[in-house]
Amino acid sequence: MILKMIKAKYPIGKFKEIETPFYYYDLDVLNKTLSEISRNIANLPFEVHYALKANVNPEILRIIKDAGMGADCVSGGELQAAFDAGFPSEKIVFAGVGKADWEINLGLDNNIFCFNVESIPELEVIDELASKKGKIAKVALRINPNVSANTHHYITTGLNENKFGINLSELDKVIRLVKTLQNIQLIGIHFHIGSQITDISPYKDLCAKVNELEDYFVQNGIKLENINVGGGLGVDYEHPNHFPLPDFESYFKVFRDNLKLREGQILHFELGRSIVAQCGSLISRVLYVKEGTSKKFVILDAGFTDLIRPALYQAYHRIENLTSEDAEQEYDVVGPICESSDVFSKGYSMNGTKRGDLIAFRTAGAYGEIMASQYNLRKLPKAYTSDDLGEV
Ligand code: LLP
Repeated sequence: MILKMIKAKYPIGKFKEIETPFYYYDLDVLNKTLSEISRNIANLPFEVHYALKANVNPEILRIIKDAGMGADCVSGGELQAAFDAGFPSEKIVFAGVGKADWEINLGLDNNIFCFNVESIPELEVIDELASKKGKIAKVALRINPNVSANTHHYITTGLNENKFGINLSELDKVIRLVKTLQNIQLIGIHFHIGSQITDISPYKDLCAKVNELEDYFVQNGIKLENINVGGGLGVDYEHPNHFPLPDFESYFKVFRDNLKLREGQILHFELGRSIVAQCGSLISRVLYVKEGTSKKFVILDAGFTDLIRPALYQAYHRIENLTSEDAEQEYDVVGPICESSDVFSKGYSMNGTKRGDLIAFRTAGAYGEIMASQYNLRKLPKAYTSDDLGEV
């Protein structure tokens, strides 16, 4: 595929006045993404919960909440952020392999929709804490379907070898236990096979597994009202200007065509990356261009403390020089942190670069700002939206 090179549109004049590095969120892209989701699930018994772990910028949360989505949280902090942003409790799910007592209590006190439960001991603790409050906790069992997601091994979650979920071999035992717990109401089953999934076929495999499991639950006299298939839909990191919207159509279609929903059942999704990745960029300034013996280094004021994905997962982010039209050259693009892993890309071809140029890392709206750290006692990056900075 040969695609004409295009650059994203940014308010560069404004960028020049702002201290770098910072995150920039294009709310128009976010709104278009949300409309595309709404269009695809209209009139279907489908409910999307935004996975807050991808990004908790308050403005982004508000827009997603206003679009009618629920929230998928994995910590007390995320639950609080969801409450603060105004997500209704009855649309909040709480997942995570290690929920602390205070986090469970926070969920119970706020009557959240559902706890996605990952183990027998967790079920027992939720039952005990709910009983102390005289409440019934609604739970979905997170089942490990042993389906491969064909993605990076750090973000594959649905295999037996992963720490997540209840293994299929344990299900009989779990169901017997659930029937004895007075303060637990089993309302569904939950799955999540991995993240940045661009090949849709693993979702087909997941649907087949879910159909099988549904039969199993029916045979055990359990009616499930909710099926939650998690998140994981991938985005195009290579071509954000050409394909800014993920392929929601094919994604939802796989479930429409392959998952047999029973009477009255609701199908839940927990999408994170596909909702927020393309609206965000990390903007950085070039500090120095250094001539090495065999290569040129572009040394930025952003490092892996601001965007850790390349260092942690060898992830690719498109890099654009926003202030140069000079002929392309190859550079190793690196950060200022005192670690050899602080490299964004090696041998990256971009417009001729000099000190002071502004650089954008594209597709950084998901798992970017939220994974920032203060290592080397650096400042956390600030964030601005297109509403803050005005028209391009
Ligand atoms: N539900 C569960 C249970 C999850 O574990 C995750 C992500 C999601 C939903 C949302 O998945 P998404 O739609 O965003 O793919 N930091 C990594 C990604 C880690 C994903 C962890 N779980 C990265 O930067 O690629």
